[in-house]
Amino acid sequence: MLNCKLIFGAVLAACLCPIAAQDSCPAGIPGLPGIPGFPGRDGRDGVKGEKGDAGRTLQLEKLAVKGESGEPGLPGRPGKRGNPGDPGPPGPPGPPGGHGDVSNSKPQSAFCVSRETTAAPKPNSPVNFHNVITNVNEHFNVSESKFVCHIPGTYYFVYHATSMGKTLCVMLMVNGEKKSTFCDHIQSTGTHYQVSSGGLAVYLMHNQKVWLETNAQNGMYAAENKGNSVFSGFLVYAH
Ligand SMILES: *[C@@H]1O[C@H](CO)[C@@H](O)[C@H](O)[C@H]1NC(C)=O
Repeated sequence: MLNCKLIFGAVLAACLCPIAAQDSCPAGIPGLPGIPGFPGRDGRDGVKGEKGDAGRTLQLEKLAVKGESGEPGLPGRPGKRGNPGDPGPPGPPGPPGGHGDVSNSKPQSAFCVSRETTAAPKPNSPVNFHNVITNVNEHFNVSESKFVCHIPGTYYFVYHATSMGKTLCVMLMVNGEKKSTFCDHIQSTGTHYQVSSGGLAVYLMHNQKVWLETNAQNGMYAAENKGNSVFSGFLVYAH
């Protein structure tokens, strides 16, 4: 650039002298430096450089340091209840039982009650028997004069009734149902005592009741040394 300025200055000085007196132009004062030239054009691209070394892979795993184990956590909550298991096998047979008490294991029911009054029984209602001769396990309820079945089964009931001077009909009732009627018929009025009887076997279920009734023919009569009336019953077979 500096060279260019000098060349440019010399050319300019030569031009300032008149062409005719070119050889004889006295040495004058050096001219002013010329104006800087325009910047040159860019040079051509340089040669491509050599290929660089391959880069290294950073391996984080090798750099990491393993920490110490932490403390165990708290126990978790209990899990849900599982399904029931299969039934177990049957157990072994039990030991043989002891000897049973034959007299107590056999169901028992029997009664015999008597009526000792000269008063005629009230028609169409239970005949009262207040004197107890036999009453096994109290199955005959004296207060209502009815037998109450505690052991279902076949029973036999029988009565023997003393009468005097009047016809007597006795009906055997099972739970309010008339099962039989037995009548004796006085042939002549007067002091004639006689005994009539009747009996029958019936099936009874638990709590069924059995009793005797008379109808209007209620000549039942008892007196000291003249005879009583008795009502009896007993279990024949338990079902
Ligand atoms: C006897 O019968 C009466 C009248 O029905 C009753 O109140 C009483 O409880 C009975 N007694 C028994 C032992 O069942």
